[in-house]
Amino acid sequence: MNLKDLYINFFVSKGHKQIPSAPVVPENDPSVLFNTAGMQPLIPYLMGEHHPYGTRLCDYQKCIRTNDLEEVGDTTHHTFFEMLGNWSLGDYFKEESIEWSFEFLTKVLKIDKERLAVTVFKGNDIIPFDEVSYNKWLSLGISKDKICKTVEDNFWIAGESGPCGPDTEIFYFRSNDEIPNTFDPEDNRWVEIWNNVFMQFFKDSNGEVSELPKKNVDTGMGVERTTAILEGVNDNYLSSVWIDIIKLIEAISKLPYKGNEKSMRVIADHIRTSVFIAADYSGIKPSNTDQGYILRRLIRRAIRHAKKLNIDINSNWEEQIAKKIIAKYKNYYQELNDNEKIVIEVLKNEKDKFNKTLEKGLKEFSKIASKSIEIDGLTAFHLYDTYGFPIELTVELANEQGLKVDEQGFLKNFKKHQELSRSSSGAKFKGGLAGNSEIETKYHTATHLLNAALKEVISKDVHQRGSNITVDRMRFDFNCDHKLTDEEKVKVEELVNKWINEGLEVKCIEMSKKDALVSGAECMFIEKYPDIVTVYEIGNISKELCGGPHVKNTKEIGKFKIVKEEASSAGVRRIKAVIE
Ligand code: ALA
Repeated sequence: MNLKDLYINFFVSKGHKQIPSAPVVPENDPSVLFNTAGMQPLIPYLMGEHHPYGTRLCDYQKCIRTNDLEEVGDTTHHTFFEMLGNWSLGDYFKEESIEWSFEFLTKVLKIDKERLAVTVFKGNDIIPFDEVSYNKWLSLGISKDKICKTVEDNFWIAGESGPCGPDTEIFYFRSNDEIPNTFDPEDNRWVEIWNNVFMQFFKDSNGEVSELPKKNVDTGMGVERTTAILEGVNDNYLSSVWIDIIKLIEAISKLPYKGNEKSMRVIADHIRTSVFIAADYSGIKPSNTDQGYILRRLIRRAIRHAKKLNIDINSNWEEQIAKKIIAKYKNYYQELNDNEKIVIEVLKNEKDKFNKTLEKGLKEFSKIASKSIEIDGLTAFHLYDTYGFPIELTVELANEQGLKVDEQGFLKNFKKHQELSRSSSGAKFKGGLAGNSEIETKYHTATHLLNAALKEVISKDVHQRGSNITVDRMRFDFNCDHKLTDEEKVKVEELVNKWINEGLEVKCIEMSKKDALVSGAECMFIEKYPDIVTVYEIGNISKELCGGPHVKNTKEIGKFKIVKEEASSAGVRRIKAVIE
C-alpha cells in the first residue's frame, strides 16, 4: 500500500472521516492563486463553522506553491505536491494528535524512533511554553536532547492573518551517518516531515491575536518528501513518486538522467503541475494573468528544458508525459479522468503557440547576450512581449551565460504595459488566507442572489461558471449567448435589491448530495462535493451547494450595483458588481 492509503486508513481507524481533496484553485478565496496547504479549504471550519463530516477529518490535498518556481531542478523542490492532513475541529487536542503521529510513524511506517526528533513552542510574551507537547514527547520516549524549543519556527500561520497557533514539528534523520544524540534543527541531515499545528488563535489583519471559538488541530505531511525518505533515496525524483516519469523522459530524449538531472526534473515537475491545473474543474487556460499565467510559465519552462535535451518539440512528448501522470493519479482524482482530453489540448496548444516564437527569441537572446553584461528591464520585457519569454526563462538563460537581469526593471515595464495583475506582483504567491471579512461574506451571499436573478431575467438555464470575490467587488461568470441589454441589467439589479430589501433569511442545511440534487439545489461541479453537503437557502428564491460563509439575512448586504457586463469567453458573460 502506498503512503496516501496507509495514512488515510490509519486516521479513519482513529475515527476520522476522509474528505475529498479540494480543487487546486480555491473558491471564495481571492487572496491566493492556488491552495498551498491542506488547511486552506478548511478555514471556515477552523474558524468555527460546523463541518458536515463532523469534527475529525483527514485527506490528501493537492497543493501548488510557485513562489520558488526557479528552484525546481534540484533534488527537493516541486511546484505541485500532495499534503496529507488530519484535523480536529474542537475535538481532540495536543496529546492525541502527538500520540497518533508517533504511532503512525513508528508502527505503520516502522520508522525507528531514534531517527525522530521534534521541536516545540518555547513560549513568548503572549503564548506560554507548550509544556503539554513537550511532556507528551518525553512520555513517548523521545529524549530531552531530541526535543528542541524554538519560538519563530514553532508558530504556524498561512500568510499574514487567519487561524494560527503553536506547532510541534517532527524531523527525520536522513543520512547514513551515525545518528547524533542531540538534535540540531540547523543540521540539514534532519528534515522536517510532519507539522502538527494547534490552532486555537486567530490573528487579524492588524496583528491582534484572539482565541478561536474552539481548539483545533491542523497537521500536514508532504507525500513527496516522506516517500523519498521511506524509500531511502536522497533525490526525491528517484522515489516511486517520480521514477517512472523520469524513465519516460530518458526514453523520449534518449539521454540518461545522470548529467541531465535538472532539465528532466523541471520537465517532470512542470508537466505534472500543468496537468493538475489544466484538469481542475475551474477551467484555467494559459493566459497572461493569475493562474493562467502560472500555467503558461510552467509549460513554457518545460518546453525550454525539453529543447535543451534535444527532444523534438513537435513530437507528442508532452502528451506522453501527461498521459503517464494522469494514469498514475487518476484513481485518486476524478478530474483527471473527466478532463484528460482538455489537458492534452491545453498542453499542445500552448506548445504550438510558444514554438512559433521560441526559436526566434533564442536567437534574439544570443544576440543581446553577446554584447551585454546585464539584460536591462526593457530588453527583458521585449523578450516577454515579442517572444513570450516569461521572466524566469530570461533569467535562467542569462544565468547560464553568467549574465544578470534587471528583474525590477522588467517588472516596471510589465506593469506599465500590461496593467499588472495582482497575482504577478507576487503578493499572492506568498500564500494567504480567505479573507472571510464581513464585506466578502456579503459579496458571497450577493453572488447567490445574482445567480437567482439571472435565472429569472435571462433564462432558467443560466448557471454559474465562475466567481471571484475581493473586498472591493464581486465578479460572476455565467453561461449566456448574448450581451445583456440595458433593460436586462436594470431588471437583474432591481431584483437583487428587491430581495435584499425583503430581508430574506439565509439558512444553512446539511443533507446528502443526492437529496441536494433532487431538491434542485444549484451546484457548479457536483463531482467535487463530498457525500454530505451544506446547502444554503435564501428565502425561497435560491438554493445552492456551498461551503459558506454567508450573512444571516439579506438585509445585511446593502445596495447592489452592476458596474460592468462583458464577455468572458465563448458563450460565457461576466458581471462585475459592487455593494454600496
Ligand atoms: N498547515 C500546516 C502546514 O502547512 C500543517 O505546515
